[in-house]
Amino acid sequence: MLEIRDITIRFGGLTAVNQVNFQMQANEVVGLVGPNGAGKTTLFNAISGLVRPSSGQITFQGRDILKMPQYQRARLGIGRSFQIPQPMHELTVRENLIVAQRFGTGTVDPEKLEELLQLMSLDRKAHAAAAKDLALTELKALEVAKALATEPQMLLLDEVLAGLEVNGKALFMKLLKTIQQSRGIGILIIEHDIETIMRLCDRVCVLDFGQLIADGKPDTVFKLPEVIRSYTGEAHA
Ligand SMILES: Nc1ncnc2c1ncn2[C@@H]1O[C@H](COP(=O)(O)OP(=O)(O)OP(=O)(O)O)[C@@H](O)[C@H]1O
Ligand SMILES: [Mg+2]
Repeated sequence: MLEIRDITIRFGGLTAVNQVNFQMQANEVVGLVGPNGAGKTTLFNAISGLVRPSSGQITFQGRDILKMPQYQRARLGIGRSFQIPQPMHELTVRENLIVAQRFGTGTVDPEKLEELLQLMSLDRKAHAAAAKDLALTELKALEVAKALATEPQMLLLDEVLAGLEVNGKALFMKLLKTIQQSRGIGILIIEHDIETIMRLCDRVCVLDFGQLIADGKPDTVFKLPEVIRSYTGEAHA
């Protein structure tokens, strides 16, 4: 469904993503890990259309998406969340979802919005102001709800579980599994916590200094010496 071929992304003299090759199908839950600054968010930005790669190809559902604007990629089925939640602060929770739905589908479907508010346990906060009245867990739920409102085939989640306390995290993980299975979508999730990846993902990819250094089953990948080195920071010494 998503195919990334030889993608390189440079910012001036810095190579943030270096010749990455990656493919994933619907129904997969794939973890994307790696140290700070490894290029994870930059790769998401390239897939969703925020950043233009210096070279390489990205296809989604067999179509070359590299020249498509963000909304067109969203309408093809690429949904994403942001590492730092980015609600429209002046709008209510519900209004934020309306904007996301229009962006991703071109129309507003009030029924689906209500379902989504309930699914993400945001129904009682529907008329709350996004910025002022939400706790961190709710902001994260809104961030995921916004991505879901675009009706994605593939959901890119950037550290949506980070910073949540243990119970909140477990609930959120369960919810993601349910969503993935009931909608039959693919999830690519950036997450630092190894235990979370082990529980959530069938497959994990490791970026280190912009390079994809491992791709496979979590219990195999986390035993690889180069991955352990990358995690413990020795590679950075
Ligand atoms: N717009 C930009 N302009 C210049 N440099 C950038 C830009 N975006 C990212 N970078 C740099 O590219 C590198 C990769 O950043 P990125 O945000 O993708 O890392 P990350 O793996 O998501 O890290 P973290 O785990 O801290 O979120 C970093 O060195 C970062 O400073
Ligand atoms: Mg990041």
